[in-house]
Amino acid sequence: MLRRSGSTVVSVVGARPNFMKLAPVARALAARPGVQHRIVHTGQHYDPDMSDVFFRELGLPRPDYHLDVGSASHAQQTAAIMRRFEPICVETAPELVLVYGDVNSTVAAALVAAKLGIRVGHVEAGLRSRDWSMPEEINRVVTDRVSDLLFAPSVDAVENLAAEGVPSERIHLVGNVMIDTLVAALPAASALGAPGRHRVTARSYVLVTLHRPSNVDDPATLRELLDALVLLGESGPVLFPVHPRTRARIAALGVNGLNGGLRLLEPLPYLEMLGLVSAADLVITDSGGLQEETTYLGVPCVTVRPGTERPITCTEGTNRLAGPEREAIREAAAAARARRVATPRPRSSGGTAKRPSGSRL
Ligand code: UD1
Repeated sequence: MLRRSGSTVVSVVGARPNFMKLAPVARALAARPGVQHRIVHTGQHYDPDMSDVFFRELGLPRPDYHLDVGSASHAQQTAAIMRRFEPICVETAPELVLVYGDVNSTVAAALVAAKLGIRVGHVEAGLRSRDWSMPEEINRVVTDRVSDLLFAPSVDAVENLAAEGVPSERIHLVGNVMIDTLVAALPAASALGAPGRHRVTARSYVLVTLHRPSNVDDPATLRELLDALVLLGESGPVLFPVHPRTRARIAALGVNGLNGGLRLLEPLPYLEMLGLVSAADLVITDSGGLQEETTYLGVPCVTVRPGTERPITCTEGTNRLAGPEREAIREAAAAARARRVATPRPRSSGGTAKRPSGSRL
């Protein structure tokens, strides 16, 4: 797929879920003779527990460039990444820029490279929620539109791209790099004994992550969600590692009495989180990655969103969608638990990053 020997490939990452997707690609590129792989960290996520710890645990090399953009509005953050990434593209003259997932760093880097006439490869191309109120949907569609190589994780993603008129020679069904990372990390994650560290036993607790603006930015919605979690906490422990955005919104609500079974935790490192996910009785989330990870692991999952860009986690996996209301979450939790899948789903054979283009799973 690379045209020249002695090629430079630049990977751009910035937010937590990007790092898991980069890891197997970085390993595969490091093993390719004649390829110089340069990593750019935009700094979209910058807290040590949102970034550095992931690089350490995933064995990622230190980024070659750090753009230090930090948090800002969408336009400001996207613009800052574009401004700071452009000179790096000019300096390194890469043959290919790889972008990952659907965050602001993804679309910003893709636009810069495309406008400089550099080929763009999008890892996790073709996912669609068809919900234009999600910033990630805009990021996905724009990134795919300017990408030359579209690395799709699943057949539905290939179909979405084909329906949008993307020529088939640009689409490569490669599988799910995030699941490759999970497979590689699971033994180390299990060996950590994460449930014991949190004084819970396997299959006895609910694990929660919520950070979407649609769930946490509106005080009434957030209050309703917290009420739902407090209710769940009456029948067992509910562990909730809280994203900084959500932490700020909970603080603004000024809620007291989040006690009982509900425990608010700091954001967790990748391995500890994976250890907790794999042994959970139920996961409640609005993350994209956790929908895939729970389906692979056969752990029941309730996704608090009206739709998903990963529909096969519902049709073939353990995922159930729910609105942000107590009763909807209770019903979806019961439906997800009733459909617990005993064996892991064959979403990826664990060699995605090395898979030749066009191969079928
Ligand atoms: C971003 C992605 C989202 C992804 C999520 C994973 C976009 C549009 N959104 O959302 O798709 O699911 O990352 O976590 O790219 N903050 C910190 N420390 C940090 C990072 C953020 O305190 O290291 C706080 C800041 O107050 C910031 C807020 O969290 O304003 C939101 O961060 P941002 O990166 O803008 O969006 P996320 O909600 O993290």
